[in-house]
Amino acid sequence: MGREGFLLLPLLILLALAAPGPAAAATANTADAGVILELAKSLTNPPPSWTGTDVCGGATFQGITCDGAGRVTGINLAKQSLSGTLPASLSDLTELQWLLLQGNALEGAVPSLARMGSLETLALDGNAFTALPPNFLEGLPSLRSLSMEDLPLKSWSIPDAVAGCAALLNFSISNCSVSGPFPAVLANLTSLQLLRLSYNYLTGGLPMVLEGLGSLESLQLNNQKSGEKLSGPIDVVAKLPSLKTLWLQSNSFTGPIPEFSPDSQLVDFNVRDNSLTGVVPPSLIGIASLQVVKLSNNKFQGPKPKFTATTVDIDSGNGFCLKDPGPCNPLVTILLDVASGFGYPPQLSVWAGNSPCGGSGNGQWLGVICKNNDVIQINLPRKNLSGMISPAFANLTRLQKLDLSNNQLTGKIPDSLTTLATLNYLDVSNNRLTGQVPEFNQPDIKLMTAGNRWGESDSDSGGGGGSDGGSSPSNPGSRNSKSNAGMIIGILLAVILLVVCVGLFLHHRRKKNVDKFSPVSTKSPSGESEMMKIQVVGTNGNSNVSGSIPTEFFSHVSADSTNIADIFESHGMQLPMSVLLKATNNFDEDYILGRGGFGVVFKGTLNGNLVAVKRCDSGTMGTKGLQEFMAEIDVLRKVRHRHLVALLGYCTHGNERLLVYEYMSGGTLREHLCDLQQSGYTPLTWTQRMTIALDVARGIEYLHGLAQETFIHRDLKPSNILLDQDLRAKVSDFGLVKLAKDTDKSMMTRVAGTFGYLAPEYARFQILGQTFSSACPPASCAPLAVYHSAHPAPPYRRPPSAPPGRLPMTSVGASTLHLRGGSS
Ligand SMILES: *[C@@H]1O[C@H](CO)[C@@H](O)[C@H](O)[C@H]1NC(C)=O
Ligand SMILES: *[C@@H]1O[C@H](CO)[C@@H](O)[C@H](O)[C@H]1NC(C)=O
Ligand SMILES: *[C@@H]1O[C@H](CO)[C@@H](O)[C@H](O)[C@H]1NC(C)=O
Ligand SMILES: *[C@@H]1O[C@H](CO)[C@@H](O)[C@H](O)[C@H]1NC(C)=O
Ligand SMILES: *[C@@H]1O[C@H](CO)[C@@H](O)[C@H](O)[C@H]1NC(C)=O
Repeated sequence: MGREGFLLLPLLILLALAAPGPAAAATANTADAGVILELAKSLTNPPPSWTGTDVCGGATFQGITCDGAGRVTGINLAKQSLSGTLPASLSDLTELQWLLLQGNALEGAVPSLARMGSLETLALDGNAFTALPPNFLEGLPSLRSLSMEDLPLKSWSIPDAVAGCAALLNFSISNCSVSGPFPAVLANLTSLQLLRLSYNYLTGGLPMVLEGLGSLESLQLNNQKSGEKLSGPIDVVAKLPSLKTLWLQSNSFTGPIPEFSPDSQLVDFNVRDNSLTGVVPPSLIGIASLQVVKLSNNKFQGPKPKFTATTVDIDSGNGFCLKDPGPCNPLVTILLDVASGFGYPPQLSVWAGNSPCGGSGNGQWLGVICKNNDVIQINLPRKNLSGMISPAFANLTRLQKLDLSNNQLTGKIPDSLTTLATLNYLDVSNNRLTGQVPEFNQPDIKLMTAGNRWGESDSDSGGGGGSDGGSSPSNPGSRNSKSNAGMIIGILLAVILLVVCVGLFLHHRRKKNVDKFSPVSTKSPSGESEMMKIQVVGTNGNSNVSGSIPTEFFSHVSADSTNIADIFESHGMQLPMSVLLKATNNFDEDYILGRGGFGVVFKGTLNGNLVAVKRCDSGTMGTKGLQEFMAEIDVLRKVRHRHLVALLGYCTHGNERLLVYEYMSGGTLREHLCDLQQSGYTPLTWTQRMTIALDVARGIEYLHGLAQETFIHRDLKPSNILLDQDLRAKVSDFGLVKLAKDTDKSMMTRVAGTFGYLAPEYARFQILGQTFSSACPPASCAPLAVYHSAHPAPPYRRPPSAPPGRLPMTSVGASTLHLRGGSS
């Protein structure tokens, strides 16, 4: 009795509060009923049972559910072939708990759902809705399942308001025009069990914060339709402890498969059709629950894995060492250990197959040089490598040369490298290495270590982790760069002062040593096809080369940025021979960057910065050589431009003439166009080619028309165009530059340049009677030929119609640019 009374009391109160009277339980709340009747009207073909007005009656209005108070709590109209639209008043159904509209042909906009605080299930899949309300996903704290697949929406991105849907378990929005970067805000939905965003337009990487999704069982991000697709490493997926289904197929993910925990419950692992690299980790192979594994069409390396799952798709398009599971050639194992230190970067995905030293059916292993089937050299400079130098290098027992310069390597140089008995060359300059350089006792070893962070501890730089250290997407440099900036500037200033003082001091003491070095030779040791310049015939023309070298250079140029050039400027540009001898290790053959028309270019280190030192050929340093030297200094002190290689200093000592330039880490354009096999560069894209051509044109335009005087370069060719790390171009080698008087249109008293790169009109009409000693450049080697007219152009004037600030394509024309197609 008492119990029933307790139950009756609230019911009575409810009845008393309900407006129309005692019959209300059976009749719909008039407002809610009105909404349903409006819905019936806006559907072009409402369900047949929807007759009359008794919305909560039960027999009529099938699919509508009401509570005891006559409020509508559920609408289920799934798969009824309904068309028409939803009325805006739908948002007044504030007690609605489920709204199931999937599998119809409803169109127009989805009305606001922001007041449906009780909504638990929302299904909109497979309709023809074209718009979502502006406050979509706001005010839905009870929502547990949201599914809206295959909707022809306009491009949209998931709003931050989704973080308020804290109860969400299933979130399924595939083929729904979601665009932009992966929505990191989804990491706030910590209860999530299913996340499906397949067939959208997502781009960029998976944010590491997703590791907070501890309940996630199914992650489906496959088949993004954007051009770039989802990319970057997939490390985060190994941190999801409940994950059973992982579908990442048909994206652009890179890097290796991460190590999975032994407790992993993975059932379905699909990463087909990506660009994943590395060795398939045993921790994945060993997962007992696996039923489906799809790895085809990636760039996996090393031994072919043996899975026991029921569906296995791994055979096509990978770089496993053998057709069948089994151990690889020991050299492959060592080299892949090395690649693992770098985080299996895409650059090294060509380390595929079982024959690092060549052999049938395998491509060249980038940077690996063998002799007698053993690796003797690893050359990987400028490959944008990160991660660490693996101790596995020490297992390459015949290694003689190791060049890892100009990368972003962190951590220490492994001590084990000191055990390599035959190592005689180690270049790790320009990385972010820390700790100490170990002591190498190999006789005559050449060590190049400048441009690192020696002395800083490992932990400062965030590197030095295990074999997965390289694949972390975080930027190790950014964290402490601010606090270190002051220190670095201080150290730099101290070093400069020290070098200057020591330099001045040693200048007197070492003067005797200076004359010992051997004369320079421009003879190229290998048969590399250095194109010879046309011999200059006839006496020199109106050469304005000055005989004396001014001591104050660049005084008229305002320095707009503090770069290495300014450091030299503040000391004047003449450098003592002893400094350059030290910088180039006494003109060490191993430091040679290239050989030019009248000299050899060495790599050097000055004040901790890399520079290029051009040593003019003292043998041919006759009148011509001296003139070229003077011409170059004369020109370079008058011109300074973003796209001209900067002269940092020079040195005259007896017969020696030396020029010091900024170092260009990207090599010459020629290497990027012609010597791909040898240099290991990838072919330039068309955008890169265009950027380089424009850079060159701007430099030349400046020489022709915008500098104080008009200069003609006369020897513009790919080997004289240098590239920096970002593949931006600068023109170099001003040895043949000619000063043209503005009035002098017939300055052709002598012809100079390299045959094959002369402007045709210049070559055709001025070349008569000249002698030249060279063959044409090989026909295979002109994917991008750049030449410029030798005629002095009138000073450049912007066409009146051109918009300010932007250089129209046609007006780079102080030079004539010719782009010819090559393979890319
Ligand atoms: C979420 O999706 C799974 C799998 O499709 C299903 O079994 C489960 O019932 C769904 N949960 C909810 C709350 O809809
Ligand atoms: C995506 O949705 C559209 C309808 O909006 C449908 O025609 C198409 O087949 C769907 N694509 C996939 C891959 O499911
Ligand atoms: C998501 O969670 C993070 C950390 O808990 C919080 O800082 C952030 O504001 C949340 N985002 C939104 C949109 O609420
Ligand atoms: C390298 O040599 C060490 C010591 O001999 C050995 O333990 C390790 O397995 C070797 N690594 C490879 C990849 O051969
Ligand atoms: C170099 O690598 C970093 C990541 O390690 C990447 O963000 C960057 O785009 C790469 N640069 C080039 C030129 O490939």
